[in-house]
Parts: sequence; structure tokens; C-alpha cells
Amino acid sequence: MLRYLIFILAYFLGAIPFAYFAGLLKGIDVRRHGSGNVGTTNAFRLLGVKLGIAVLFGDFMKGASAAALGYWAFGAWGGIAGGLLAMAGHSWNPFFAFRPSGKGVAAGFGIITVLMPKVMLLAVGLFILVVWATRYVSLGSIVAALTVAISVFLFREPLAYRIFGLVGASIVIVLHRSNIKRLLHGTENKFGNKKS
Ligand code: G3P
Repeated sequence: MLRYLIFILAYFLGAIPFAYFAGLLKGIDVRRHGSGNVGTTNAFRLLGVKLGIAVLFGDFMKGASAAALGYWAFGAWGGIAGGLLAMAGHSWNPFFAFRPSGKGVAAGFGIITVLMPKVMLLAVGLFILVVWATRYVSLGSIVAALTVAISVFLFREPLAYRIFGLVGASIVIVLHRSNIKRLLHGTENKFGNKKS
């Protein structure tokens, strides 16, 4: 029975708002500046490279550790449940009144690194290519999410991972609604620009 507590832990691990804490170090509330997102990209944008990398590491680790704990306790289905709960805690954060906060990309990166490294390599490769070519991190994230959704089938991953691919990618894409609107209107922030 105690093993089930892992899922509560996974949710609260996901809810640790690393970008918010990093912002406090510089006296900046990341929810009120840049894109307003409590995530890695906004941390890079507002807080600089060092704190950006720290937030990336923190967000990556919370996804990775939640998935690893779930896998350890219940195998593949536990891995995806732990991962999805961490994404939920990150994106609908109980410490921020469950408002959409992070967009699940760095946490998702951690989850697929643990559960499906081949899918991760392809998604990260395309993410880097798109961001390098366009300087739109959001477009890279959307392409990476779609890559995960498709490549879980291409690589014949187990059913649990296919479900994660579809659900996780849908969450990431839905949370990028405002980015998609800005991309379509040509007003999306490019990586390296300070303003949103
Ligand atoms: O991972 C989130 C990224 O794709 C977009 O972030 O801050 O530009 O909305 P942001």
C-alpha cells in the first residue's frame, strides 16, 4: 500500500516551482514578466543562462525522478503515471491556485529520458534543430511533443508509453495555446530577445 504514496510524491515533486524560486533570487516574479510561464524558457529569458540552466536541471530532475519512482514501484504503467502526475503538478500547480504555470517540456524531457531514451534522442534532436533554425523555443517544444507522440509508435514502444506519448504531447500542445496564437500572428518572442 505504501508504494501508492509514490504517486502523491510525484505530484508534489512536479509542483516544485524551480523557476519561481530562481526568480526570487533576483527579486523577479517570473509569473509577472516575460511570458509569465513558471518554466525553463522564461527563466533563461528573465534570469540569464546560469539560473536558466539550474531551472532546466531542476525541472528535468523532477520529471525524471517521478517517472523513475513510478517505474521502480509498478513498472511501465507506474512510470507513466508518476510522469504524468509530475507534469500535472508542474503545470496546474497547487501552490499557484492550480492556474496553468509550467508547460511541461523540461519535466517531459526528464520523463522520456528515463522511460524511452530513443524517443528522447529523436525529440531533442528535432527540438534543437527547430530552435536553431527559427529561434522559437515554443515551436521547438511543439515539434518535440509531436515527435514523441509519433515516435512511440515508430519505435514500437509498450502500450503504456504510447499512451504517455499521446497524453503528454496533448498536454504540452494545449499549454502552448498562447504561443501558437503568437506564432500565427508573428509576435512570438524569439530566444535571445528580452521582451515577450
Ligand atoms: O517550454 C516552454 C516553451 O516552449 C515556451 O516557453 O516562456 O516562451 O512560453 P515560453
